[in-house]
Amino acid sequence: MEDWILEGYRARAWAGETTEAQEGKTLTLFGWSFRFRDQGGVIFVDLRDRTGILQVVLRKEILEEDFTAAEKIRSEYVIAVQGKLKKRDAESINPKMKTGTIELVVEKLVILNQAKTPPFSLDEFEEISEENRLKYRYLDFRRDELKNRMLKRHEFVFAIRNYLNSRKFVEIETPILNKSTPEGARDFLVPSRLNPNSFYALPQSPQIFKQILMVGGMERYFQIVKCFRDEDLRADRQPEFTQLDMEFSFVSQEEILTEIEGLFSKVMKDVFELELKAPFSRMPYRQAMEEYGSDKPDLRFGMKLVDVSEIVKNSDFQVFTVAVGTHGVVKAVCVPGGSVISRKEIEDLTAWLARDYKAKGLAYMKHGPEGLESTITKRFTPETLKKISEAVGSKEGDMIFFGADERQIVNHSLGALRLKLSERFDKPAEGSFHISWIVDFPMFEWNKDNNRWDSLHHPFTSPNDESLEIFSSEERLQKEAGRALAKAYDLVLNGVEIGGGSIRIHSKEVQNRVFSTLGIGSEEAKEKFGFLLEALEFGAPPHGGIAFGIDRILMLMTGGKSIRDVIAFPKTQKGVCLMSECPSEVEEKQLQELKLRLIKV
Ligand code: AMO
Ligand code: AMP
Repeated sequence: MEDWILEGYRARAWAGETTEAQEGKTLTLFGWSFRFRDQGGVIFVDLRDRTGILQVVLRKEILEEDFTAAEKIRSEYVIAVQGKLKKRDAESINPKMKTGTIELVVEKLVILNQAKTPPFSLDEFEEISEENRLKYRYLDFRRDELKNRMLKRHEFVFAIRNYLNSRKFVEIETPILNKSTPEGARDFLVPSRLNPNSFYALPQSPQIFKQILMVGGMERYFQIVKCFRDEDLRADRQPEFTQLDMEFSFVSQEEILTEIEGLFSKVMKDVFELELKAPFSRMPYRQAMEEYGSDKPDLRFGMKLVDVSEIVKNSDFQVFTVAVGTHGVVKAVCVPGGSVISRKEIEDLTAWLARDYKAKGLAYMKHGPEGLESTITKRFTPETLKKISEAVGSKEGDMIFFGADERQIVNHSLGALRLKLSERFDKPAEGSFHISWIVDFPMFEWNKDNNRWDSLHHPFTSPNDESLEIFSSEERLQKEAGRALAKAYDLVLNGVEIGGGSIRIHSKEVQNRVFSTLGIGSEEAKEKFGFLLEALEFGAPPHGGIAFGIDRILMLMTGGKSIRDVIAFPKTQKGVCLMSECPSEVEEKQLQELKLRLIKV
């Protein structure tokens, strides 16, 4: 390797960081030839490194015999150049480029490596299929979009670490090879060669370990940590994703929320220039479900669900009266400007809600010049129609949709409808953000399919003080489990759950009652998380915590469409890495070592 290159490895200049102040200096740069123009005797190359682009000029009269090498440069060749920085002539200034007023007049050039022609243009303005971007991720990294998101990601976690360090939190790593414990999703399992017939599970979260760290007296823990969940994947779900995981000792719910508000106010401002006013708004779970049909309501727009059961219960419309009469509800959503929605579209919406949300129908009324109109309005008195319109705040040009059914079906279906139609009729302004805590979650939710109670958060979540009484006896708990509220909280940004946590149970009795409500017997509890239960008996401090989805936050803050956009090497919707083509088959020998035999499908 030539001396000037080795020298350059020690003290290089960066393309995107060169400025007019360096005029006349001799600089060495390394990078890729992004664009090049051969004008016969002079070649212009946009040299690109991680920091940006600098135009380098290769002139025959300066380079002499090296000019033959210059003529060989093609797209994405890796080059080393040395030369003098000069200001460009007035007519060749490029105001669109950060370094558009300068260029490097090259005196020495070496092609360090050649490159095959990339399968797609690396130009930031070209639309490239996601499949190609994932398959050739290394080329995608050379494009500004992914590169800038990765740099933001670095800045974000760096800012978090800095801030938490200043707040006395310590980062502690927890194991990736774990005991399989029930935490909601399906586990990824890893067979143990040294212990045949036994498996590790990859952590769905470090939940139990962080609680144990509190018993160990670490007091304030955090970790930026990979978690693994074998779930059906969606735009905001990956099989492996990153949490900011935290746990605090000697803490109340209020204290945790305040600490997190401090963290977010600081890092969102520093990294994304987003001002968040603390305290963030707080909404009880019940209200979120009743008014928005979701436990992660997008509060950037209105279109609330309005309960009109009382108004319509004496109408002649049986669909409504039967629903109210059988302990159900009738709710309405007013879509501003929605009267343009066609009958065909309503039919499609009705079919979608029936299929995905078990809604039996989707009644509607348009607000026309004469008031509410529809095929069903004749079943209501003018007075009732007026009351409906007032309750939902409709005006001419609006459309009102109704759901009549069990409360849950109505909330879920109208909540989904609200979200879908907002995109067209009540779209939140670009760049608007709404952050809110959802609090007062129920402890349990009834699992109809399996006929049992499930934890809404996880089995270590503490009931709130008012609900503690319900846990005083097994009998009350059996009857009133559904009424018990938890010290649990979620943080929601623009309709996406970005974090969730709870105060934990640190009393063995309450923990055992929760297990028995969930149908986990004492033997099973001991077998599954005996080590936590035992630890809790050795002086566990009151403790609680929270975890955030780093990928989701970055997706929202960098305008990504899915969390794949902010993950260096993500999987597809089917859990496949298109670059390495995993998951893949393994050799028979590997299976034998693990004492595994496949049932081929
Ligand atoms: P929870 O299960 O709510 O809580 O997870 C915390 C946050 O992690 C994000 N998240 C995901 N992001 C991408 N892909 C996924 N598959 C995925 N699953 C979850 C969400 C979510 O809010 N141990 C508890 C926290 C605690 O109680 O302290 C836990 O893991 O943004
Ligand atoms: P029907 O009386 O079944 O012809 O329905 C009249 C209107 O009520 C149609 O627009 C249906 O979509 C709607 N509808 C039927 N059942 C429900 C329901 N459970 N909730 C809301 N709308 C319904």
